[in-house]
Amino acid sequence: MKKPVSRILVINDEKLVLKELIKGLNAAAKSLENPLGISFIGVTTAHESLQAIEADGDIQAVVVDDTLYTLKNAEKGSRSLQMTALELVQKINRFRPELNIYILIAQEQEDEVVDALFSETVDGYFYREERDYRGMYRILNAQLQEKARTPFYDQLKNYVLMAKDAWHTPGHSSGDSLRDSPWTNDFYEFFGEHIFRADLSVSVPMLDSLMEPTGVIAEAQKIAAKAFGARRTFFATNGTSTANKVIFQTLLAPGEKLLLDRNCHKSVHHGVVLSGAHPIYLDSSVNKKFSVYGPVPKQTLLNAIEKHPDARVLILTNCTYDGLRYDLSPIIQAAHAKGIKVIIDEAWYGFARFHPAFRPTALEAGADYATQSTHKVLSAFSQSSMIHVNDPDFNEHLFRENFNMHTSTSPQYSMIASLDVARKQAMLEGYKLLSRTLELAKEVRMQINSTGVFRVLELPDLLPDEVKHDNIQLDPTKVTVDISRCGYTVEELIQELFERYNIQVEKSTFNTLTLLFTIGTTRSKVSRLYDALMRIAREGRAPRRLYQSPQIPYFTDLKYLPRDAFYCGGELMPLLDEQEQENTHLTGRVCADQITPYPPGIPVLVPGQTITQDVIHYLVCMLRSQKRVEVHGIVYDGYLPCLRLLTLPEEKGLKKLVK
Ligand SMILES: Cc1ncc(COP(=O)(O)O)c(C=O)c1O
Repeated sequence: MKKPVSRILVINDEKLVLKELIKGLNAAAKSLENPLGISFIGVTTAHESLQAIEADGDIQAVVVDDTLYTLKNAEKGSRSLQMTALELVQKINRFRPELNIYILIAQEQEDEVVDALFSETVDGYFYREERDYRGMYRILNAQLQEKARTPFYDQLKNYVLMAKDAWHTPGHSSGDSLRDSPWTNDFYEFFGEHIFRADLSVSVPMLDSLMEPTGVIAEAQKIAAKAFGARRTFFATNGTSTANKVIFQTLLAPGEKLLLDRNCHKSVHHGVVLSGAHPIYLDSSVNKKFSVYGPVPKQTLLNAIEKHPDARVLILTNCTYDGLRYDLSPIIQAAHAKGIKVIIDEAWYGFARFHPAFRPTALEAGADYATQSTHKVLSAFSQSSMIHVNDPDFNEHLFRENFNMHTSTSPQYSMIASLDVARKQAMLEGYKLLSRTLELAKEVRMQINSTGVFRVLELPDLLPDEVKHDNIQLDPTKVTVDISRCGYTVEELIQELFERYNIQVEKSTFNTLTLLFTIGTTRSKVSRLYDALMRIAREGRAPRRLYQSPQIPYFTDLKYLPRDAFYCGGELMPLLDEQEQENTHLTGRVCADQITPYPPGIPVLVPGQTITQDVIHYLVCMLRSQKRVEVHGIVYDGYLPCLRLLTLPEEKGLKKLVK
């Protein structure tokens, strides 16, 4: 098993003092217990220290001298101040907030230095003159051990090793029901004994309770909050789909207004129905050339905030599935100025805190809540997500009630353990792994472009016109490739990559493929991808005609609250009339369901929305499309695709929404 390597950087401007410090600290590290592989390195300038922190992903902590000078004139012995400890701490913290920072101070300056650094993220102080290297080492080692701790996972492992007899759920009883069965033992063998032994339940008190954590889950969440820069963090074992609904129900009472991107994930739209909120849908920008739906234009957002100061909440997705990132701070500031809470769905961006190339995160930009699918982009099991809270008005009791309303009373413990471990990894090697991921993504971009047939789309290609001046950035780990010149349709290409080259991609549009780079992307996967695309390019096929699906019509009119509409019994009406033409009787009627073609996954109708001719035309095109498109929400009456509508008497009984 590979052993960890941890370097601690000491910054002191006096060469001899520095040499002595490094020697003393390394001697202490050698003579004392050192499970994290700690060693000390030194630099004499602030500039070098920042370079080292950038280049060396194994640096886990820094010890900064409180004042760093450079010699101006060696003969006269005059010196100038390079940087105060405060400035340096701020720089380090902006670059890598996960690093522990200690300050070396002189006893006589103690008050001054501690006062200046009081509000900064400093973990502690050492007196320079004490030269207690073993004491310093012990403290630094203990700090790193704290970050490396995984309270829930450790306890789960301990419990499994204790080999208690199970007289409780789950029914497989540590796998004993499966292991010796001739019918099912292959299932046991395939997954391995620990999956079953660690599949435990709330009957084991030493493993705490996800619904009322006070022990190891509470501890794990507390460390996660620190790592992600949140006041509070909660682990969710039903994905970000549930995390979004929990926050909606916490913040929104029936009828309260909510501003939301229409392109938000369907869980957000389900949250609207569950909470009974009054949604104000904002149309996303669209890049027509590549059928990519982007952020909501900044001006649309600012106008909506201005027009609906009575809104309780604004929710946006950052980054989008295609990696487009808002300039969040000014939007959040405008929302906060009207007292609107901001939720950012960071399902695709849970790693961002751990590399400056991706920051600011939603919380750093001032968001009140961020939901993250840790499982999508870090090393957690599927469905394992985190909810981060920075809302100064957080109502923990209400949150807990809603969390428990949505959480299974039998959560999967390996998922909770995986969140604990994913946090540890992100904190201790996230920077290093993300640096490698960025490098690989950069390399792939060049390789793909060098095929002469495939081309990676960069920010200017992807940006819809409406958001060209909104300071949008691109997350380079989402690599979207224009495939229009390769001679395959996108479906054929996906199949070719899958069957001939064993490659499964993340998603596609009619003329693009998107590849997702994560901390698990390896160099050999990259070379296999390059090899496959190069071989396909060399086939030299003539470009195919690619059929683009029509663009989603702009949002029409919301006549009733989605929840009121959804809970009507309704009636079915076919999308096509007897002549197989678009059914014009649907026009002007109100839909009772959410109708979402997938892809792109944006609801074309939500409950309570008025149906127009454009909407009918779009849905019929989708159903007739050569490309297989799922249209969620369509009801089949025999072979007839239908919409569920509010009956006219039902409409009469409902309160119309005031515009
Ligand atoms: C923007 C967005 N939010 C939320 C979700 C739901 O996340 P989860 O799969 O963790 O439930 C997804 C899933 O694709 C998503 O794309």
